[in-house]
Amino acid sequence: MSKQIDIKDLDIFYGDFRAVDGVQMQIKPRSVTAFIGPSGCGKSTVLRTLNRMHEVIPGATVSGEVLMDGNDIYGAGVDPVNVRREVGMVFQRANPFPTMSIKENVLAGVRLNNKRLSKTEADDLTERALRGANLWNEVKDRLNLPGSGLSGGQQQRLCIARAIAVEPQVLLMDEPCSALDPISTLAIEDLINDLKDKYTVVIVTHNMQQAARVSDKTAFFNIAGTGKPGKLIEFNETSSIFSNPDKEETENYISGRFG
Ligand SMILES: Nc1ncnc2c1ncn2[C@@H]1O[C@H](COP(=O)(O)OP(=O)(O)O)[C@@H](O)[C@H]1O
Ligand SMILES: [Mg+2]
Repeated sequence: MSKQIDIKDLDIFYGDFRAVDGVQMQIKPRSVTAFIGPSGCGKSTVLRTLNRMHEVIPGATVSGEVLMDGNDIYGAGVDPVNVRREVGMVFQRANPFPTMSIKENVLAGVRLNNKRLSKTEADDLTERALRGANLWNEVKDRLNLPGSGLSGGQQQRLCIARAIAVEPQVLLMDEPCSALDPISTLAIEDLINDLKDKYTVVIVTHNMQQAARVSDKTAFFNIAGTGKPGKLIEFNETSSIFSNPDKEETENYISGRFG
């Protein structure tokens, strides 16, 4: 199920502003890749191009290719809605639908895809997705209560359950732990480690320890100054990035000399 992602010569624009320049990257299936770098270097922007969420912003465009198992998601005739079904996304702020029950939150994405489910199918899928998000045991007795009653960390795992209920091949996460306490953060990090058995996971994090803990490979992005495009400086095994980076720029960043 998990897909390989090949990013080729990717330039990303907001109107005339070139926000990200010339990204090349190959992301293997069943792996976790972390995007790190200072604020504004384009981590979120690159992430959003991987499921065609970037172009939702008026004037936002890309050039280059993003191949999923060899097929360009920007190719002629590709429906972005299908891309987003295969490439799920979890955001910084957990955003369950507040008036919907826990169960309906899990099923929301599936229902959006106009899939009709019998009661048994809906129950099974709810359980499977909540188990997959390590949340089942905590919520199984209150599936019909509102999602907004959960703690922040539980809400974030509920959003992950919603994302995996549609059975994507790739999961994108943009700073999924930045609003969470340390215990909830560890729960999500454990979950990310489980998720890579099935999915290609790409996570943006401003927390370098987190990148070191959860990822197989790390991409370090940087920006030369305000108004300049972000660039991918180094992409390598996480252990190399943090112990023996190739580029001095990476070394300066991970040792805390800037950013
Ligand atoms: N919706 C937007 N419209 C215009 N410019 C944007 C938008 N989102 C981000 N940018 C710009 O793109 C650049 C990269 O931003 P972003 O991807 O959010 O960086 P990061 O996630 O690394 O902090 C920044 O210069 C930012 O101001
Ligand atoms: Mg960001």
